[in-house]
Amino acid sequence: MVSLKFISAVIATAVAVVSAAPLEKRIVTGNSFDHFMVVVLENEDYSAVMKNSYMSGLAAAHNGTLLTNYLATTHPSQPNYIAMIGGATLGFSSDNDGTTSSSSIVDLLEPAGITWKEYAENYTPLSGGGCDTSTSQASGLYRRKHNPFISFTKITSNAARCKNIVPATQLQTDISSGTLPQFMFYTPNMNNDGHDTSLSTAATWLKGFIEPLLTNTAFNKRTAVLLTWDESASSSGNDQVWSVLVGTGVVAQPKNTDSTAYNHYSILATVEKNWGLGNLGQKDATATPFKL
Ligand SMILES: *[C@@H]1O[C@H](CO)[C@@H](O)[C@H](O)[C@H]1NC(C)=O
Repeated sequence: MVSLKFISAVIATAVAVVSAAPLEKRIVTGNSFDHFMVVVLENEDYSAVMKNSYMSGLAAAHNGTLLTNYLATTHPSQPNYIAMIGGATLGFSSDNDGTTSSSSIVDLLEPAGITWKEYAENYTPLSGGGCDTSTSQASGLYRRKHNPFISFTKITSNAARCKNIVPATQLQTDISSGTLPQFMFYTPNMNNDGHDTSLSTAATWLKGFIEPLLTNTAFNKRTAVLLTWDESASSSGNDQVWSVLVGTGVVAQPKNTDSTAYNHYSILATVEKNWGLGNLGQKDATATPFKL
């Protein structure tokens, strides 16, 4: 008979092995990709972005997919960001410091053991990694309205979750140490995202940001990246925004374009389908996932 002591020793060893394993070893394999990153730029019409040669050629240059029928949710910025991770605008109709007690993508990812982080440029957490819920910070380049995680009380009331909202400089550290989370939301600052600058500035920043990542095999390994804009520039029109899927986790569509009707809720639908997470019971439940 196997002794209880022996069984305890085996269990103790197994637990030690699991907790000692680097984060990267514990990834949850997805149906189509193992890592997903969303990068959100600010306030441009699809037609304007397509006039920028880098942006219009980006999908083809990386054998990715340009989504030619992707609509943002509303105006102004904040409800679009809330929609991306919450599956609905959840009562947000302006840029403000409101909060919601609703669930978010985090409540689907964590029970499935899928790691996540919000990388926010020029964001500094409170000491010890606490959530800073301020509207902006001293640098003037960070804005709460572009960091959706900070508006969900199920995140901000949880110290461990707050530690996953990090300054964007952490991304290179996570790549180097092999601790890249599986779901990544990247918020550029008010200059890099084009909000306080221009489309051309945002495009130049994006090129400098994404090109090295796509050639870095420590980052781009069964990785799907969605590059998108929060909303169109004009409050008239259909709110069409430029969106592109690139990365080794992307199966390029013919001619590197896809005219399927997508929207910000497709982000949740895609992540949910990839890892079999169910849904939030919001608009994510009926949204169309990307072809990946
Ligand atoms: C682009 O991706 C598609 C789908 O993954 C693949 O079939 C095709 O060979 C790729 N083309 C190039 C030029 O790499």
